[in-house]
Amino acid sequence: MIETVSRLEDLRARVGGWKRDGLRVGFVPTMGNLHEGHRSLVHLAREHCDRVVASVFVNPTQFGPGEDFARYPRTPQDDAAALEASGCDLLWLPSVEAMYPLGIEAAVQVRVPGITSVLEGAHRPGHFDGVATVVARLFNQVGPDVAVFGRKDYQQLAVIRHMVADLAFPVAIVAAGTAREPDGLALSSRNQYLSAEERTRAPRLHQALEALRDALRAGTERATAEANAADTLAAAGFDVDYIVARRPDLSEPGPGERGAMVALAAARLGRTRLIDNLEFELQ
Ligand code: PAF
Repeated sequence: MIETVSRLEDLRARVGGWKRDGLRVGFVPTMGNLHEGHRSLVHLAREHCDRVVASVFVNPTQFGPGEDFARYPRTPQDDAAALEASGCDLLWLPSVEAMYPLGIEAAVQVRVPGITSVLEGAHRPGHFDGVATVVARLFNQVGPDVAVFGRKDYQQLAVIRHMVADLAFPVAIVAAGTAREPDGLALSSRNQYLSAEERTRAPRLHQALEALRDALRAGTERATAEANAADTLAAAGFDVDYIVARRPDLSEPGPGERGAMVALAAARLGRTRLIDNLEFELQ
């Protein structure tokens, strides 16, 4: 079974030994309940590195009041088996006390300005403060050369890149493509909250992003295309937080603007909040 460490000194001893041997260390941070998407992150880390560390930590500080922290799926044995099978070398499994040794109230926080105030940041206040805070801690604990993040959490990836650039973390960030079910639904641990009937409708989120992209390519004005996409999702029973087209840095494109774009959506189906995005070129 994969080697699992829960004490910082054990983690540092193992990674320090690899570094002294001149090995490149990759890191995949997760909240556990691993699926094929996570396995692809481990494989990508392995392509870039000699050794791969994954962390499993359901981070309380990135969940808002009333969000799914308590019911977030925790499957530690399956996670260890999945990491072992995907070629991961070490599992970092910190307790809340190991992650926040002075307690959450006294924890030093990392707050990335600007990009965290829109979209996910606007709908989940404080979420990205929790993400940046825990990822900074994980980077300091693990000390990786490379860290892999999924493109499905597009805004999270942008937040991490901003933090790494600004705080000069000596880690290269590698982005992994979104793993999808055959019907287009992006893989997510939260998909298991869906009822069987909701699961049949869930791929419409991805389809709505494709329709938004196609409408923009066909010359539809952005505000109209976004409103149509939101209406389509609402008609399919989604409670829509947003479905929009943005520049890659998440700022709003001007009228008729061309170039690289990303369509992003967040919507609730029953008690499940789904997010997805689609990067594309507008010529
Ligand atoms: O993407 C996630 O699973 C989490 O936000 C992360 C990066 C592991 C931080 O808790």
